[in-house]
Amino acid sequence: MALARTKPKKIKPLLKTNCLSHGTVECHDLARARRFYEEVLGFEVVQTSDISLMLRRGKGTIIACVETKRKTAAGVYSHFGLDVDDRAAVDEAHKIVSGVRQEYGIKKIQRPVFQHGTYSFYIVDADDNWWEILENPKGGYNYVFDLKETAADWREQNQGRDRISKGKRQMTQRKKKKVA
Ligand SMILES: [Fe+2]
Repeated sequence: MALARTKPKKIKPLLKTNCLSHGTVECHDLARARRFYEEVLGFEVVQTSDISLMLRRGKGTIIACVETKRKTAAGVYSHFGLDVDDRAAVDEAHKIVSGVRQEYGIKKIQRPVFQHGTYSFYIVDADDNWWEILENPKGGYNYVFDLKETAADWREQNQGRDRISKGKRQMTQRKKKKVA
């Protein structure tokens, strides 16, 4: 499949938007979520209503967190990524988060792996939101927009695919064992 074009200058979009100001996550206990975001993930947090917070880390996108009653349905591809300096920092973060897993009701912590050109791991918090801790240059993924779109070397997608298919194989094997 051809790579997506990353030359937006030549395209005149229908909407004249200024920036991506925010994304959102859901939670089921605002106070618990705030503790996790501030004390573990390091967000600056402002409570914006009885049922909502805004989270900021750096000058980029802000995340609004809304307390809801229904079950959150985020998956791995609905995650937010928090950058750290290098691979060692990813490993260190993994160790730290693993040590406070019970205290913050963290549901899942995956092991760090190389995938799509970075080294990272995912956390599933008490509200089923997915967070990625990854190594990235300063400025995050902005460097991608400075590369030629045909230079695909920056991303080794197969690493991610390998991991996913391996996970699926393991799940299938577990199911078979249960049936047997
Ligand atoms: Fe990511």
